[in-house]
Amino acid sequence: MSPDSPSKKELIAVKGTHDILPGEVEIWQKVEAEVKRLVEAYGYRELRAPIIEPTELFEKGTGETTDIVTKEMYTFIDKSGRSITLRPEYTPSVARAIVEHRLDLLGTPMRYYTIGPMFRYDKPQKGRYRQFHQVDIEVFAEKDPAIDAEIVEMADSLLRSLGVTETETRVNSVGCKACRPDFSRALRERAEAVRDKLCEDCRRKIETNPLRIFDCKVAGCREQARAFPKITGYLCGECRDHFAAFRRFLDLSGVGYKVDENLVRGLDYYTKTTFEVINLSGGQQNAVLGGGRYDDMMKDFGGPDICGIGFAMGMERLMAMITLKPEPRRFLYVVHAGEAAKAKAVELARFFRRGGVETLIEFGGRSFKNQFGRANKLGSSWVLIVGEDEAAKGIYQLKDMAAGTQTGGTPDELLRRILRPSCESAGD
Ligand code: HAM
Repeated sequence: MSPDSPSKKELIAVKGTHDILPGEVEIWQKVEAEVKRLVEAYGYRELRAPIIEPTELFEKGTGETTDIVTKEMYTFIDKSGRSITLRPEYTPSVARAIVEHRLDLLGTPMRYYTIGPMFRYDKPQKGRYRQFHQVDIEVFAEKDPAIDAEIVEMADSLLRSLGVTETETRVNSVGCKACRPDFSRALRERAEAVRDKLCEDCRRKIETNPLRIFDCKVAGCREQARAFPKITGYLCGECRDHFAAFRRFLDLSGVGYKVDENLVRGLDYYTKTTFEVINLSGGQQNAVLGGGRYDDMMKDFGGPDICGIGFAMGMERLMAMITLKPEPRRFLYVVHAGEAAKAKAVELARFFRRGGVETLIEFGGRSFKNQFGRANKLGSSWVLIVGEDEAAKGIYQLKDMAAGTQTGGTPDELLRRILRPSCESAGD
């Protein structure tokens, strides 16, 4: 190691990030495929926005008094002096993309999803990372409470289709711009009365946004917050009706849920419906997904007056609940001996790969026997034998490793045998 090279200790992943290794990746891919299948059945289309965004997007969208914006953003000044942030969540990015590209004028359903990494500088612990992944779902321009219920039902279906059952769905309403000021006033008064029992952060929140006290992770603050007034007692007529209709539709969908009057969620933009799905055997970080309605964000961005609703599911928290196993891989291993055979083996590997067969060939100079041993150890389904003789004749031997049988043939014949083993044997 040269004196300038970093020490071994520094050559590990950044704290709060993690590698997803082969073996695990296949399960992620399976889950992602199921997510895509299911949400596309509900009419959602994928929208991929950049990972970096102007910092103002989250200050305006996520909200200046949220923990995310005040403490957790990865923000830096780029070479042109702009303040850039690695997205801590996806919702403001979709709203920005809609306004920027006027997707609202296309006349198509405004249902979008994405799967990708998010970044928050929070204290890492089990279930809480600094780079984590979300499946994010957003719907725009649909005011009807039936859509709120459909989204919760879709989230529930998604979890069930992935075999996740030990969960609880919690719902609430956080009101709107019309009813929240009264609630904030009542909350402020109550928090003021117990000011000395709150942490410094929460004392600041009394002035800036008392609702955010509900997000505090300090045990003493949580204890106080339990006795604070509940938003449901302050809802205006419209919000009350919306909440009742949402629950009626949810009842009809058969999804079990609980009303949780403390569920305000840690983001400033929510109006009316909020919801979370909790892992019942999770530790402190037990929210598998969370979301809600945000009817003012687009307007607040200076865009059209279009309401929105959505949720994001934490992939790492989901994966911790998944028992799926990767499918065993089926692949061909090409063994070869001699220079002429090696060149032919390379050509044949290309032929089988083009034919759609996963094919492995290695160049370690191992003997035939050792290559066979290796194919066996790796769990190959078939072995193709390419010796000097075979290379000269153009007829090769294919061994089916599970059956222990061996057959000869041209590359075309052997490819057909691999792709349609039953038809081939029927024709034999
Ligand atoms: P959120 O509650 O901040 O909402 O995050 C949603 C989910 O992301 C959480 O329930 C959790 O599963 C996962 N998550 C959040 N932070 C972490 C972390 N540090 N490590 C691991 N997983 C994490 C949002 O992000 C909103 N944008 C959801 C939304 C979409 N609302 C409306 N549309």
